[in-house]
Order: sequence, then C-alpha cells, then structure tokens
Amino acid sequence: MKYTRIGIIGGGLMGREIASAFARWCALTDISVTPVLTAVADLNPQALEWFEKIPSCHLRTTDYHTLLASPEVDVVYVAVPHDQHEKIYTDVLSAGKDLLAEKPFGIDLASAKRILKAVHESGRFVRCSSEMPFFPGALRAFEYAKSGALGRILEVVSGFHHSSDLDPTKPANWKRLSAKCGEGGALNDLGMHACHVPLRLGWTPQRLFAQLQKGYAQRPDGKGGSASCDTWDNALIHAWTNIAGHEVPLRLEMKRLAPGATNTWFLEMLGTDGGIRFSTAEPKTLWVFERAKEQWWKRTELGFGTQFKTVTGGIFEPGFADVIQQMWAAYLAERDGQLDGRFGCATPEEAVASHKIFAAALKSQRESAVTTVEP
Ligand SMILES: NC(=O)c1ccc[n+]([C@@H]2O[C@H](COP(=O)([O-])OP(=O)(O)OC[C@H]3O[C@@H](n4cnc5c(N)ncnc54)[C@H](O)[C@@H]3O)[C@@H](O)[C@H]2O)c1
Repeated sequence: MKYTRIGIIGGGLMGREIASAFARWCALTDISVTPVLTAVADLNPQALEWFEKIPSCHLRTTDYHTLLASPEVDVVYVAVPHDQHEKIYTDVLSAGKDLLAEKPFGIDLASAKRILKAVHESGRFVRCSSEMPFFPGALRAFEYAKSGALGRILEVVSGFHHSSDLDPTKPANWKRLSAKCGEGGALNDLGMHACHVPLRLGWTPQRLFAQLQKGYAQRPDGKGGSASCDTWDNALIHAWTNIAGHEVPLRLEMKRLAPGATNTWFLEMLGTDGGIRFSTAEPKTLWVFERAKEQWWKRTELGFGTQFKTVTGGIFEPGFADVIQQMWAAYLAERDGQLDGRFGCATPEEAVASHKIFAAALKSQRESAVTTVEP
C-alpha cells in the first residue's frame, strides 16, 4: 500500500467532509493508494479545533504558507471562498505540490484562465472537485450515452437544485456576496456540477440564452444586523450543442431557490432510440427508456455499484459522502497512473470550459440575447 500525504487549506464545510472521507478509507477494497491527512490550514482557529480528532493531522496552522512549506505534504486540497482560489491555487503550484482544487476554479473566466496557465507551467497534477458524476447511476448514464444507445440525441438536461435560500431568516454567508462568490453566484456555486458530464461527453455549448434570478436582497448577517446579498440565485441556461452533426438543445439548471430540493443533481438524456434519467433524489434508481413495439421507461435499482469497490453491501444505497470518497479515489488513482479507463475527476480544461459557459450566461442575461460561448 502506498500512502499519499494530504494537506487541506480551508477547514470549513468541505474541508471536514474530505477529512472524513479519508478517515474511512478502509471501506475501499481495490485501490493501492491511501491518503493520510497530515496538515490543515484555516484562518479561523476554531475551524482547526475540529481536526484535533484526526490523529495523523499534526500540523494545524492559521497560515497556509506554513502548510505549503511542510515536506510532509504531497497533495493539497483547497476549499476556500472563490475570491481566494487563484492566489492559493497558484501558491500551491509554486510550492511544488499537486492540487485538487475546488470549483469553480477561480472567481471568473479570466481568473480560471490564469490558473490554467499556471497549471501548465508547473507540470503538477491538478484536478477540480465535482463528485456527483461518481454516483453509480450517473456513471451508468454517462456510459449509456457514450455507447450510442440513445440513437440521434434529441435533448439533454443537466442540473443541480437546492432550496436553502428559500428561508429568508438564514444568515448570509460569502456565497451570497458577489465580491467573494463571484458575479456568477449560483453559476459559480453549482455550475461545474451541471456542466461536468456534458463537457466530458464533448457536448460543449456553442450558443445560449440564460435566465438568471436573484434571491433575497437582504439577509440577517448572523450578528444581529442585516447584510446585502447581490448574487444570482437561480440560473436556467438554454444552450445549443452539436452532437454527431445535429444541433441539440442542452439545458443546464442551477438553483438555490428550488422548492423541496435539498442537494438534487440530475441528468436526463433523450434520443430517438433510447433515453436515460438519473437523479440523486432517488440515489440507487436508474430509469432507462426502450423503444420497441411499445415504449417503456424501465426502472432499475442499482444499489451500491461504485466504480471503486468497497466493503459496503451491493444492495445498499450510495450518498454524498460515498461519492466524495469515490472522487478522491479517482484523483489518487489517476495521479498514480492507475485509473485504468475509469471516470476521472474534472480537468482544469473542463473547469475553464464551464467558466466560458458562465461568462456567456452573464452576458446573455445582461443583453437579454442569445450569446456565443467562447470556443
Ligand atoms: N464539491 C462540492 O460539492 C462543494 C460543496 C460546497 C462547497 N464547495 C466549494 O468548496 C469551497 C469552500 O466552500 P465551503 O462550503 O467549504 O466554505 P466554508 O465557508 O464552509 O469554508 C471555507 C473555509 O475557508 C477558510 N478560509 C478562508 N480564507 C482562508 C485562507 N486564506 N487561508 C485558510 N483558510 C481560509 C474559512 O475560515 C473557512 O473555514 C468553495 O470553492 C465552494 O464552491 C464544493
């Protein structure tokens, strides 16, 4: 077994999630590399306290430069607000470490392009976090689309919905402020999740029309006052892509105001010969369309068919924590040359391509017009 030493910069929501995925790495049965969390950096000393429960995490610091100087760190995972992505990602690369970056990979398109340039110049192994395609149902949908079973593709819908912004009493955080989250708002927050599979299939939008909506302009600031919130909360992108010589409608949906949805990622692809649907609202269920004399939507209970095998029984259902672990398995296996044809993490190029879609969506909203996506 090979051990890879990981440092986390940003020990908030996602930093803790990743640390917990490493802590139960024993669940995986067919991977020859094990991550060991050796260091964490967070500006907030209280955030660091949680990491005291990870025995291997000896270095806990409020200065991420100390983490980057440590010879005990091979790979850095960075989960900080978007306004800090570029500075910290490029510092990680300058320190000679490999990187699993968080989406959206820079606060805007210009920033993402500068990060990509630094990635190429550094020669380091870099991927961008996007875990939802690692659900077994999502992977089956991806393979089905690649197989040609859809026939001529008629329509694709890919989206991510949640509803946490419906509650006006929820305190504002940095994700509701353009200065920290980026002008894209929900595009930056949820967009990579919706774009990842279509981009991996080569279905790059060429032009689009976007409808963006804002949420509550004021929220409690959590300190007894109120804070102004200026980000887009919902985004509907109606795009055209070219698949096998046909223009195909591709709809990308990102919503923080979707009544009833918690963390619902979904994908639907329809063609003349077949169709497939998967949603994390039904995490082990796959719907496949068949056209014969009669037409059928067949429902299959997939169970725990993850691409990296685990001790978990095949009849059980996968969840968010499982696909985070699967994504890390893919990152570490690919870094070691052991991916062996399995689905890999989002690439820096795919992250930049997603930002091109967000930039076109913002322009479309401003001009209320169909906009060309930068090739
Ligand atoms: N892949 C996913 O499903 C997913 C889900 C949520 C968030 N994210 C992404 O993860 C990133 C972080 O989001 P989050 O929800 O964990 O945010 P968060 O606010 O919960 O945590 C961010 C942490 O970063 C720390 N921080 C800020 N600046 C820092 C600095 N200079 N040095 C060290 N620490 C610093 C903060 O103190 C905080 O603890 C964002 O890019 C976000 O888009 C991804």
